[in-house]
Amino acid sequence: MEYYSLRTGEVGAIITAAANVQDNGKGWEGELSVASDQFIPSLSRLSSTIKRNGTKAILQLFHAGRMTDSGVLRGVQPVSASAIAAERPNAEILRALTEDEIFDLIEDFKKATERAIKAGFDRVEIHGANTYIIQQFFSPHSNCREDQWGGSIEKRFNFINQLVDSVTEVVDNSNVQDFIVGYRFSPEEYEEPGNKNVRYPLSC
Ligand SMILES: Cc1cc2nc3c(=O)[nH]c(=O)nc-3n(C[C@H](O)[C@H](O)[C@H](O)COP(=O)(O)O)c2cc1C
Repeated sequence: MEYYSLRTGEVGAIITAAANVQDNGKGWEGELSVASDQFIPSLSRLSSTIKRNGTKAILQLFHAGRMTDSGVLRGVQPVSASAIAAERPNAEILRALTEDEIFDLIEDFKKATERAIKAGFDRVEIHGANTYIIQQFFSPHSNCREDQWGGSIEKRFNFINQLVDSVTEVVDNSNVQDFIVGYRFSPEEYEEPGNKNVRYPLSC
């Protein structure tokens, strides 16, 4: 809050650091959370600090997926589209989400959007970049599912498609004006197979 209060008014908009929409989506210590109603009062203080001099406040919504560990999650095993560890030192064995859990995750992005609106933010940004869970669903490196969520580029896109529709539906059904839903994405990743500017065959 101190950091933001020194900068409000100097820029048109501030996108906060990532806020996890589920407890098991926490990626690092000290992270913002929007995973429960209990955080609405403190998130409201954050948005009003950012907005004090006319700057727009944007809450970034995310889930770390496999880019976390059971230490940060206090003993809980990390989850993702598939049980494929990230290419990074000490990456842990993770668990693939069940279909029900995928629908729960989309539901929790919706609830996070409702909380952002209640907390006075002007916008949300869906964090689809930097190899977190949304990118993990789209990447052929981390998604080897054989159901409606994986198996072809179109199916790997299904999670993003349903997620964006769900979040924008929340905004459309709320009574806020000019509320923008942003989406951050990473066009490329270094993993093989990975998201590239060219189509890669699935190698799972
Ligand atoms: C410590 C640290 C924390 C970051 N946290 C976030 C974040 O919460 N959300 C996000 O979209 N990007 C985050 N980033 C990525 C930055 O937004 C940016 O893309 C990255 O630092 C590369 O830009 P730069 O070369 O100007 O540093 C973070 C980067 C660093 C170094």
